[in-house]
Amino acid sequence: APEELEALERLCIAVAVEAGRFIRDERPARLGVTTKSTDTDVVTVMDRRSEELLRGLILAERPDDGILGEEGADVVGTSGLTWVVDPIDGTVNYLYEIPAYAVSVAVVVGDAHTEGAWRPVAGAVADPSLRLVHHARAGGGAWTRAEAPVEGAPPERLTVSAEDRLGRSLLATGFGYDAEVRARQSQVLTRVLPAVRDIRRIGSAALDLVRVAQGSVDAYAESGINAWDLAAGWLIVEEAGGVVTGEGRHPGKVLTVAAGPALVEPVRSLFTA
Ligand code: IPD
Repeated sequence: APEELEALERLCIAVAVEAGRFIRDERPARLGVTTKSTDTDVVTVMDRRSEELLRGLILAERPDDGILGEEGADVVGTSGLTWVVDPIDGTVNYLYEIPAYAVSVAVVVGDAHTEGAWRPVAGAVADPSLRLVHHARAGGGAWTRAEAPVEGAPPERLTVSAEDRLGRSLLATGFGYDAEVRARQSQVLTRVLPAVRDIRRIGSAALDLVRVAQGSVDAYAESGINAWDLAAGWLIVEEAGGVVTGEGRHPGKVLTVAAGPALVEPVRSLFTA
């Protein structure tokens, strides 16, 4: 029902903003850092605390829904809806105090826990450094507003770029944490970099997807991203008129491409040639 979708979108915004404020404002002077799969795959004490906060806020309002989170939240609900959350997307930026990290919160239908098909129906990406939140619900468009809504300042509608030439495209990408994966990704770049205007490695897949939705990059391509990196940004791109392919797998070696309709296939072929 439309009212239910609106309520889910509002809750996505509220919890993403609250967790975003928490990681920005409560950052301890000394961040406890541990590594996960490899030395490059870091997790801070704030990733864990942000996920706990999200989990508490969501389950208090939606006790029958499931939750899947980057730091281990894995609750199978009974409602058919699952919250897919990344408590800090861009953890390495957060660690180095580079202001490009996000909290990504989405509600999905289907099976995001395994390799099954799923899709987002509402989502929000909070950008605490810029004090903004980007959000969408299925059929409702993609929007950006201030973290604290300002009276008289309506949300801004997002639209993907109309660029269709690879040579004039600014492309965002990212790299996995595994050395073998990185070796493959750098091979692909030897072909991609000469063919495009330039490349950005912003360091947060959720913010890359938001940039595609805004048209502030023309496309985003990365292989092996996880459901929590993708879920909210995927819907925001689609609701901004863009296309996402290679989506929806978890976890994946799959190549995900997000762009305007004219650019998505050229970018995909460039990466897979
Ligand atoms: C990572 C970031 C990065 C992307 C990696 C992700 P994390 O997420 O989104 O930009 O290249 O693939 O794993 O670990 O900071 O939540």
